[in-house]
Amino acid sequence: MRLADQSIPVYTNLTDLYGSLGSSVNHAERWDNLAKEFEKRFGRPPAYITRAPGRINIIGEHIDYALFGVLPAAIEQDILIACAPRQPSDNSQEIHERPGSVVAENLNPKYTRQVFAPSQRAPEGWHLEINTNELRWESYVKAGYYGVLSRYFPPDSNLHPTPVDLLATGSVPSGSGVSSSAAIVVASTLAFLAVNNRRTSGSTDAPLSKGELVKMAMENETRVGVNSGGMDQAASVMSVNSSALYITFFPILNTSPVPLPSGAKFVISNTLVVADKVVTAKFRYNLRVVETLVGARILAHKLGVKLDIMEKVTYREVLGRIVKEQQDCGSDGDMGAGSLIVALKSIMRSLTHLLPKGVDANAEGDEQQMGLTMEEMIEMSGLSQQTFHEVYLSWIDVEATHFQLYKRAKHVFTEALRVLQFRKTSLDATDASPSLSLNPSTSLEKLGNLMNESQKSCRELFECSCPELDMLAKLCREAGAYGSRLTGAGWGGCAVSLVAEDQVEIFIKKIKDEYPPYKGLKEEQLNDVIFATKPGSGACGMCFLRFLRLLS
Ligand code: GLA
Repeated sequence: MRLADQSIPVYTNLTDLYGSLGSSVNHAERWDNLAKEFEKRFGRPPAYITRAPGRINIIGEHIDYALFGVLPAAIEQDILIACAPRQPSDNSQEIHERPGSVVAENLNPKYTRQVFAPSQRAPEGWHLEINTNELRWESYVKAGYYGVLSRYFPPDSNLHPTPVDLLATGSVPSGSGVSSSAAIVVASTLAFLAVNNRRTSGSTDAPLSKGELVKMAMENETRVGVNSGGMDQAASVMSVNSSALYITFFPILNTSPVPLPSGAKFVISNTLVVADKVVTAKFRYNLRVVETLVGARILAHKLGVKLDIMEKVTYREVLGRIVKEQQDCGSDGDMGAGSLIVALKSIMRSLTHLLPKGVDANAEGDEQQMGLTMEEMIEMSGLSQQTFHEVYLSWIDVEATHFQLYKRAKHVFTEALRVLQFRKTSLDATDASPSLSLNPSTSLEKLGNLMNESQKSCRELFECSCPELDMLAKLCREAGAYGSRLTGAGWGGCAVSLVAEDQVEIFIKKIKDEYPPYKGLKEEQLNDVIFATKPGSGACGMCFLRFLRLLS
């Protein structure tokens, strides 16, 4: 059965849950503490605890929203939400007595107690106030709730969501590119499903599948103000133990585990630059989404690919149409990795269509840096100004005077190629047949080089790195990593480095000593900002835990 069609696992004790993760860490204390604290604060034990892990992205940055395959792995760090239904008392006007009201607390005192209730507004249905101008922890809880409300409580149905108390805790660092946001949206979606006793897909009696949960989490995270692709949610929900996960989004969401060569270990190191995706979305993340979508439209237009006028086509779809791809023809559900590699290589020559008129692909400095103005972009798209605004700008807020379509496209297509090469190298290295398997260190070198090229491309073409990430990745390479690169959206956050297992300790020590912002940190703090994760360690499907007895 495809991973996307499997149902969400439900565990009744921690041994089953963490045993399936192959974890060496004793999580019982953390879960027990959460349960006790819940009881102390709300006067009864939690009915459920839901869990969603963060992820590292090994390779494939900023290409999920162009619908190209990516290669992340879940990490052991996760978000836990303990929750229980609350009995509403009659006649109370208090907000926490309203249908579906939520009292949300967080074990981290930095995140204050929040009380909110959904309201119904015609014509759009359920409404929860989400502040998209600042980063607020409860926004992600609300985002998860939205999905449950809109799918299971249609406004005309007279069904009322259950009031709920919840207590969250997390070990995924926020603003660090390891996807705390998707983890909390997924955990919150599961918490609201659990307290409302909604286990099925909604439209049928079949249990909710992992693929459906990913879709819900993707749709709902956009409510926080970032138009992210589906990588984080898919990694958090569908990762499997001990492997990276190859995720493709076209023609449908598909995942397959990619075992990593023996001796490969990933080390996460935090630059300590907090990258707030939400607050900076207008001129960073969301701008990149628009730059890649408009680039795809222009490329299609210039290459004579027919598009519907209102179609928001992606680079992956344009590529498929250029090579007249038959869908469902390969085992990956698309044209298959081999044909995709050929297609990617051949499209590279056409990207000059995205340059400003009269500018050469080899032009240096300012000329290429200029990018396209809005007027130039509209003209090149072949659309009227009004249609262009409607299709590309009416649904998303962006701020820029110039748009770098050529550089962004070059990153997207080369990065898509690197993902396929990384996957192939890993599969060859772990293939049982001796004719295919490479010497382990040769494979690690190849993988490391691909990661380094990805970092270069993120820095120079996609411009989503920052000086601290560049410095840290360089230090990591000098300290012996085969490869090192930013992970996640970038502009701060963490670097991920591929290190030989027997070198991990010495590698970590070097970085602790040499990365300037770590100076003065205590050992305990250092252990939170640089740590090793087993390849795929902590990777579990999204776990939905019926809270019985944690320590049994
Ligand atoms: C964020 C988004 C993902 C992905 C990465 C960049 O993490 O949530 O969808 O686009 O950035 O690869």
